[in-house]
Amino acid sequence: MSCTCVRRLALTAVALSALAAIAAPSIAAAQDAATPTFTRDVAPILQRSCQMCHRTGSIAPMSLLTYEETRPWARAIRENVTERIMPPWYIDKNIGIQEFKEDKSLSDEEIATIAEWVDNGAPRGNPADMPPPVEFQRMNEWHIGTPDWIVEIPEPFVVAAEAPDWWGNLESDSGLTEDRWVKAVETKPTAESFPVVHHAVTGVVNSDEDEDSLLGSFLNEYALGKNGDIFPDGHGRLIKAGAKIRFNMHYHSIGREIVDRTAVGLQFYPRGVEPQHKLISAHVGDNEDLDIPAGESNVRHDGYFLLEENAHITAFQPHLHNLGKRQCLEAILPDNSKQMLNCADWDFGWHIVYNYADGAGPLLPKGSFLHVISWHDNSDANRWNDDPRNWAGFGQRSSDDMSFAWVSWYELDDVAFKAELAAREVAATAGND
Ligand code: HEC
Repeated sequence: MSCTCVRRLALTAVALSALAAIAAPSIAAAQDAATPTFTRDVAPILQRSCQMCHRTGSIAPMSLLTYEETRPWARAIRENVTERIMPPWYIDKNIGIQEFKEDKSLSDEEIATIAEWVDNGAPRGNPADMPPPVEFQRMNEWHIGTPDWIVEIPEPFVVAAEAPDWWGNLESDSGLTEDRWVKAVETKPTAESFPVVHHAVTGVVNSDEDEDSLLGSFLNEYALGKNGDIFPDGHGRLIKAGAKIRFNMHYHSIGREIVDRTAVGLQFYPRGVEPQHKLISAHVGDNEDLDIPAGESNVRHDGYFLLEENAHITAFQPHLHNLGKRQCLEAILPDNSKQMLNCADWDFGWHIVYNYADGAGPLLPKGSFLHVISWHDNSDANRWNDDPRNWAGFGQRSSDDMSFAWVSWYELDDVAFKAELAAREVAATAGND
């Protein structure tokens, strides 16, 4: 081989590597643009839907604020989001109404982004793409503004460093000596105790009927990331003189002793002002005749509730116990036509109130029935099942079961009902344009 040859080869090698130097980054860049990265694509999703729970000192087992914290969990995150276990939001996306307040659930695109990110080795991406950190709720502040009235749980509740989860009711006197209409309500643990409070649902005991029901009349639900309820003008809930407040709590130990003082804060309409729309919350479709054979995974029960007035439904909360699997809420209209309003899977660990977005809650004429369809799973596939060899029926213990929905609504006279229906139609046509 002549020396020119070597030179030529060397030149070729230089040329090739020069080519590679040009080509390689552009291929990589093309890949980069397509492959989701943590900083650009995943972090914004975690900020919106995960971090209120997944950060140090909050209720979830690990923090998902930074790349370093998130990377080791990539596989588990992929599994939990594709199975729609996380974030906890169990509304069936393929059936019924989909517009809710405080909906942190992921879209199909967001889930695909996370899956693709994990499948491509969960790359960090360009640090400059990282969005600024979000500011979290301050747990020592009321989001509804300074309450006019605060009712705490009857005495501080000590959550031991290590203990099984605790579910139960605590009851306090409201201290109210006159009837008051509530304009805004918020249930809240303290800045110290929120990591042990998985949920807190409050109810009012205004009457004997409330006394007999488990919670009383539904008042408000606390879940991390929620801001309390400020009712639109003209809407309110009644708390009567001498009423009691019930707190339905789920405490979860976190390895050190924590003392809780969950409280409900209330703002009132001025004395003498009675809002036009009175919010009602009630058990709907109770079925106390449950027959759940041992080992069966898909046992259905039905219950019905007659709406005696025109109703604007504002919230749906399934209520089942350990064996619960799924619940659907259907409307049967006076002309016998049916509308499936919503279905939600059930996980006993999470009690979620699904609040319809303004303008999305079902409008049902008087004489409609709410039809509640519940399924229970008494097989060993249900992780909450103590013993799949046991028959289960209705009862108050969580090993017994239940089947009803909490539904909130306000009543409308015929004129107001027609007006709301008409407004819906206008909004729908505007949307179509
Ligand atoms: C409302 C609070 C909350 C939100 C929002 C939330 N998580 Fe969780 N997450 C939890 C809790 C609490 C657990 C512990 C398991 C349980 O109690 O169900 C958990 C468990 C997990 C696990 C399983 C951890 C393990 O030990 O295997 C993963 C993964 C996860 N979450 C990811 C996410 C992702 C990703 C998001 C957002 C898309 C998210 N979570 C949103 C509270 C939350």
